[in-house]
Amino acid sequence: MSTPRGQFSSRFGFIMAAAGSAVGLGNVWGFPTQTASNGGAAFVLVYFVLAFLLAYPALMAELIIGRHARANVVTALGSLSSNPITSFIGKGVGYYGVILAGLILSFYTIVAGWMLSHLGHGIANVAGMTTVSQWLITSSITRDLMGSVIFAGLTMSIIASGIEGGIEKWSSRLMPILMVLLVLLIAYVFTQPGAMTGLKVYLLPDLSQVLKPSLLISALGQAFFSLSLGVGTMLIYGSYVDKNENLPKLGAIVTCVDLAIAFTAGLLIIPAMYVAQHSGTVIFNEAGELITETGLIFQVLPSLFTAMGNTGLWVAIAFFALMSIAAVTSSISMLEVPVSTAVEKTRLSRLAATLIMGSACLAISVLIIFNFDLLFVFVIDLTTKYSEPLLGIMFCIFAGWILQRNALLQELKQGNAAIESSLFWKIWPWYVRVVCPLLIVATFAQSLS
Ligand code: TRP
Repeated sequence: MSTPRGQFSSRFGFIMAAAGSAVGLGNVWGFPTQTASNGGAAFVLVYFVLAFLLAYPALMAELIIGRHARANVVTALGSLSSNPITSFIGKGVGYYGVILAGLILSFYTIVAGWMLSHLGHGIANVAGMTTVSQWLITSSITRDLMGSVIFAGLTMSIIASGIEGGIEKWSSRLMPILMVLLVLLIAYVFTQPGAMTGLKVYLLPDLSQVLKPSLLISALGQAFFSLSLGVGTMLIYGSYVDKNENLPKLGAIVTCVDLAIAFTAGLLIIPAMYVAQHSGTVIFNEAGELITETGLIFQVLPSLFTAMGNTGLWVAIAFFALMSIAAVTSSISMLEVPVSTAVEKTRLSRLAATLIMGSACLAISVLIIFNFDLLFVFVIDLTTKYSEPLLGIMFCIFAGWILQRNALLQELKQGNAAIESSLFWKIWPWYVRVVCPLLIVATFAQSLS
């Protein structure tokens, strides 16, 4: 490889970047609403168990392959074995990951664009620009295009600046802001009437729901998406980690941060819904289910902010700033997958690769915006429901079966000399070989039936 590869400059930087990737709209939006519609704390419980039993080992598979190969997802998977057939399959899986990352980025960009529009709406309100603020919350193709273009521009400008100067720098700045905003918003919502009812719904488990198959499947899918697994995102981040770092520990920290923020976001969203109900907003649909889709973020919460009067203006800004930050630290991790592959496999500069790959993903976003009813849900299902688990299995198989046991041990030993006698080494290798793929297949099969 001609160009020297970038690297995270510190442990903190890697944790912020990887947690930034993991903590996204999936945490702040997906997790709380899934919890509310799946038996409250029962779902939290199942989710936490599955996250550790299944998502953490799969995360480790990606991090280890990445750091071992020190390359993009295509080269990494293609280089694990000298057998030409395995190597060919590895490259194929890698390219599939690159395409998936791009497709996930294209629908994510549209949703993130909506968050930016609502953020702009809040700012325009404070500035007294009523026409602009109204336009920004009225759904239209022009508005969606504008939001997507701006968001894609933000993502590209961070990625173009490289690993340390782009991904690490911005994740380390934005993630602490995200956490502070989250805590401030919770503190405010808790003082409002109705919040405690929501808190009870969130925290009292309805144990009759714990073993429902649909709950298990939702929890698994959510855990996978939330830890950014199955497209090579964590593999490429792992490839930028220093050889002296203890990978199982770093992976565990990232998993814990992701879980903690998802849980904390629930403390905000569910009580906020009940505060909204208290102030007269409808939060259940005709079927008696909690409104969880776009209606929650773009109707229920905004009408709550309006009901809060002047304070509500600022609360709305803080909330959509939180959502936009969560989105951008995740979207950069998606774009890094195709960009790193292009930089290492062609002679393109990082800037050129970012512009080409970023524009290609944006072009798909535009296509989706113009054919919204046809494509939006289709692309989401195709990528997150069907493809991510399948590729997740492939990553486990490559880490468990293709990467030689000895190479694996050497890789892990570099950051932790005593790894051989650790619980991790006793359990993880066979776990990732057998248990993970089987569990993923089982849930996958269930979700198809
Ligand atoms: N984990 C992010 C979230 O919770 C989304 C995400 C980032 C992602 N990178 C990914 C999902 C790669 C799948 C694959 O919103």
